[in-house]
Amino acid sequence: MSEAEVEAATLGALAEAEANCTRCPLYRDATQVVPGEGHRQARMMVVGEQPGDKEDLAGRPFVGPAGRLFDQTLAEAGIPRDQIFVTNAVKHFKFEPRGKRRLHRSPNAGEIDRCKWWLGQELKLVAPAVLVAMGATALRSLLGRPVSISSLRGKTGRIEDGIPMIATIHPSWLLRIRDSAARETERQLFLADLRRAWRLAG
Ligand code: URA
Repeated sequence: MSEAEVEAATLGALAEAEANCTRCPLYRDATQVVPGEGHRQARMMVVGEQPGDKEDLAGRPFVGPAGRLFDQTLAEAGIPRDQIFVTNAVKHFKFEPRGKRRLHRSPNAGEIDRCKWWLGQELKLVAPAVLVAMGATALRSLLGRPVSISSLRGKTGRIEDGIPMIATIHPSWLLRIRDSAARETERQLFLADLRRAWRLAG
């Protein structure tokens, strides 16, 4: 077992161990690891896909365009971000250089599965009452197999150790919907999913 695989006793120690992660090749090109952040005894944990360009530079999850939409929706749902724990299924940014830009690439099944070690430790340390999986990558990580969001939408699923889980869309998907009426309809469904999770969190 390498140093980066020793179980951490605190979120701070976990973030330090994550910074040394070489479990998959994504650490090589990313600026830094982006650990989960938030309340250490949060009753609700929200899981996204992976850090984007802004998150990779800031070292914090959900601080870019998708993060702004996420924050607005949380505020509308009356959920204080500092009362929840926000993390990603994959902790390093995967991208393809294109001129001066870095274009997002989706993590593959192997990368998601390798990174699940860290998500598992966050789950043990925070021990949330409810999970929110935002998007297919988060869902695959939490369930350990590919499952469509539509097959779980509106239901309360459970991960292996019994924690209730709400499956919803990823906010970056909302940003890609061109038609503003359609985007608002989908955003309302996202808002309803967050509200439901917050109610379940008690
Ligand atoms: N998208 C994610 O899935 N996570 C982030 O931290 C930012 C954008």
